[in-house]
Amino acid sequence: MFTFLYQNITTSTIVGVVFLCFSTNNYAANIEAGKAKAQTCIACHGPNGNSIISEFPSLSGQPAQAISTALYRYREGNRKNPIMSPIAAELTNADMNNLAAYFSAEKRTSTHITSAQNASLGPELANKYNCTQCHGPQMLGLQHIPRIAGQQHQYLITQLRGFKAQTRSDMDGNMSSAASALTDADIVILSDYIAGLADRPTAKNE
Ligand code: HEC
Ligand code: HEC
Repeated sequence: MFTFLYQNITTSTIVGVVFLCFSTNNYAANIEAGKAKAQTCIACHGPNGNSIISEFPSLSGQPAQAISTALYRYREGNRKNPIMSPIAAELTNADMNNLAAYFSAEKRTSTHITSAQNASLGPELANKYNCTQCHGPQMLGLQHIPRIAGQQHQYLITQLRGFKAQTRSDMDGNMSSAASALTDADIVILSDYIAGLADRPTAKNE
């Protein structure tokens, strides 16, 4: 596919633009199929994938690859969870890609209010422990690296404690190694700071 795209661009920019229009249409179709399938997910992950339960993660605005990778790993047993493993077991690869396309295109909002103290301590810690180096300057994630900005507060605390204790599965060891240096106080500060990094919901989302 990349060779095809590359040839189009080198041969003629117009052909490249036409190709992109087609791929946009395919993407829209996937989002619609994902939205239909997502009706079973929103009970826990919230309307538009913005969770309203602190222990349940938001899926909105998450890089599509991070969502599909997580689903795939639940289904294959690499990441285990009593709620998500049986749900993922019922999904095909196409379902996972469609669901990922849908949730990824939704806007992330958060109702979390970070304390003034942690809002000032958080950025320095995120820089010191390289969180921004992997998760991005605004912690919006990239490809398989999840977005953490505006993620649910308790979910963040649980995951970071889990990585540190090496009880949360880790695809490449990077996160467990990043979390190993954190004290529990760091985890509490970072989670409070990161959970607040998103737009406030509009009336429509509430
Ligand atoms: C009964 C509640 C429930 C339902 C229904 C549910 N989930 Fe989940 N989901 C959870 C919980 C709880 C977690 C956190 C599990 C963990 O700690 O690994 C989670 C985690 C996830 C994750 C990983 C998020 C991350 O940031 O790593 C993805 C992706 C996901 N769910 C997608 C879905 C999709 C897609 C559906 C619908 C097909 C769905 N879930 C239905 C409760 C639910
Ligand atoms: C070397 C790269 C790297 C660094 C540094 C890093 N992370 Fe991560 N992080 C990852 C990857 C990759 C994952 C996905 C792990 C998986 O699901 O197997 C992840 C996952 C996470 C998750 C779970 C997200 C979810 O949706 O389940 C949280 C929370 C997190 N990181 C927070 C942090 C914080 C806070 C820091 C700084 C202390 C940090 N990370 C530093 C690469 C990194």
